[in-house]
Amino acid sequence: MKKVIISLAAVFCMLGFTACGNTDNSSSPAADTSAQTQADLQGTESQQTEQSAEVTESEQSDEEKAAPEQTAEQPQTDGFDENTGADTIVVYFSATGTTKGVAERIASVTNADIYELIPAELYSDADLDWNDKNSRTTIEMNDPNVRPAIANDTVDLDGYTTVYIGYPIWWGDAPRMMSTFVEAHDFDGKTVIPFCTSGGSGIGRSGSNLASQAGSGNWLDGNRLDANISESEIQDWINGMN
Ligand SMILES: Cc1cc2nc3c(=O)[nH]c(=O)nc-3n(C[C@H](O)[C@H](O)[C@H](O)COP(=O)(O)O)c2cc1C
Repeated sequence: MKKVIISLAAVFCMLGFTACGNTDNSSSPAADTSAQTQADLQGTESQQTEQSAEVTESEQSDEEKAAPEQTAEQPQTDGFDENTGADTIVVYFSATGTTKGVAERIASVTNADIYELIPAELYSDADLDWNDKNSRTTIEMNDPNVRPAIANDTVDLDGYTTVYIGYPIWWGDAPRMMSTFVEAHDFDGKTVIPFCTSGGSGIGRSGSNLASQAGSGNWLDGNRLDANISESEIQDWINGMN
C-alpha cells in the first residue's frame, strides 16, 4: 500500500511539473503557435479569395466580360483634377504644396479647370535648400537661361480665355520651369493672371518676366497671395482686377 501511495505521489508530481512547464513558457511557444496559426489562416484566406475570384470570373457571362472596365479608380496622369470645359484654367507649379492650396481655392472660386505642372525631375529637399550655393535651385536660379523639363505639359490652352499661372517665388523670380511652360504655349487672345506664394517677397518682376518670355497674351500684373488666403479674399482680389 505504501508503495502504491508513493507511486501515485510520483505520478501527480510529474503531472504537476509538466503543467508548470507549460505555464512558465507560455509567452514564446504560445505566441509562435498563434503566429503560425495566423499565417496559416491568412494563407487559407488568400487562397479562398483567389478561388472566389476565379469562380466569379468563370461565372461571368461573355457579355459581362466584354463590358468596358470602370476607370474611376485610374490615377490621374495628365495633371487635370477635373476637365469641365470651363473658359478659365489655373495652371500651377508647387514644390511644397503652398501654391497648390491657393491654386485650388482660385479654381474653386472661378469654377476653373486646374492643372498641376510636375517637374520631369522632382525637387528634393536638398534641391530646395536655398542656403546651399550648390543646390539645384540655386544653380537654376543663377542662370536665367536654364529651362527645366516638365513631366506632363500636355495641357491644351485652346479652349480657355483666362489663364491663371501660379508658382512659388524663388530668389525673387518664378522658378525656371515656369519659363519652360510659358515659352511652350500661345497665349494670344487670352488674359493671363500670374500669382505666387512666397515667404514674404512680392510678385516683383516675376510676372512681367514670364510675360516677355511668353511673347503673347494680355498679361495682368497679378499678385502674391497669402498661403492662407480665403475664398472670399480671392473673390475680392479678382473683383479688384476687373
Ligand atoms: C529655392 C527657394 C528660394 C526661395 N526664395 C524666396 C524668395 O526670394 N522670397 C521669398 O519670400 N520666399 C522665397 N522662398 C519661399 C517660397 O517662395 C515659399 O515657401 C512658397 O510659398 C513655397 O511654395 P510651394 O509650397 O508651392 O512650393 C524660396 C523657396 C525656395 C525653395
